Amino acid sequence: KNRESRLRRAESLASLTTLAAGVAHEIKNPLGSIGIHIQLIQRALKNPTSSALATMAKDLDVINEEISRLNGIVVDFLFAVRPMDTSLVLGSVGKILKDLVEFMDGELAQAGVHVKLALADGDDTVLLDERFLKQAFLNIVKNSLHAMPDGGVLTVTSKRMVSGLEVVVTDTGTGIPPELLEKIFEPYFTTKDFGSGLGLTMVYKIVKEHGADIRVSSKVGVGTAVTILFPWPARSPQLLDFKGEVP
Ligand SMILES: Nc1ncnc2c1ncn2[C@@H]1O[C@H](COP(=O)(O)OP(=O)(O)O)[C@@H](O)[C@H]1O
Ligand SMILES: [Mg+2]
Repeated sequence: KNRESRLRRAESLASLTTLAAGVAHEIKNPLGSIGIHIQLIQRALKNPTSSALATMAKDLDVINEEISRLNGIVVDFLFAVRPMDTSLVLGSVGKILKDLVEFMDGELAQAGVHVKLALADGDDTVLLDERFLKQAFLNIVKNSLHAMPDGGVLTVTSKRMVSGLEVVVTDTGTGIPPELLEKIFEPYFTTKDFGSGLGLTMVYKIVKEHGADIRVSSKVGVGTAVTILFPWPARSPQLLDFKGEVP
């Protein structure tokens, strides 16, 4: 049975404490490693034979690497906590989805991923920030791509619903185990060797900036579906028929 992660903890997710805890956890390892290698250098300095000097050079390389890792963590953190300067204007969601699929065409084909695009007929205009929304969809599609290392099918649909415009991105990838489903939006949560774990954190932030909702359902070995519901724009008063008399 599919399980959905509804993200009840919206508030805590966005909160600085959650992020700070993530950062603290992230910087522990590199700091520990730097400490150990400094101790090794101090030991080598007490008896500076030529082989001791050679290992010292290696220790310094490790320290340098760890420092750039720390730098990356800080840069990512600042990115994650920085308020977004979204400016929402009326735009077509379908156009963004079409552009994105076109943009990713080569990469998807090379991965053996077949793309199905089924966009809503009729008006799909919502209040959006094109730059950020593109980034959000890109992060979602990239995750799908990573989840289908041996190829598969990526389905992107949009549908006009009473409650809003619904976009669903479905893949036939590895799927997400139920116990991990509630963690995927957390900053720094990743199951990948070289993942930042910030992709979906950013997606969540962008979706919320659009006043939209996101949910993910997944089944291991079957695939994953990411659903985003954009609210319809409020009808502007000028567009309503004016029935009164002008004095
Ligand atoms: N479409 C998907 N299929 C399978 N797993 C996914 C999918 N999308 C996200 N995930 C899981 O959620 C985790 C977090 O995703 P994300 O925040 O984008 O970070 P990253 O891609 O850097 O790991 C991934 O590492 C993966 O385990
Ligand atoms: Mg990702």
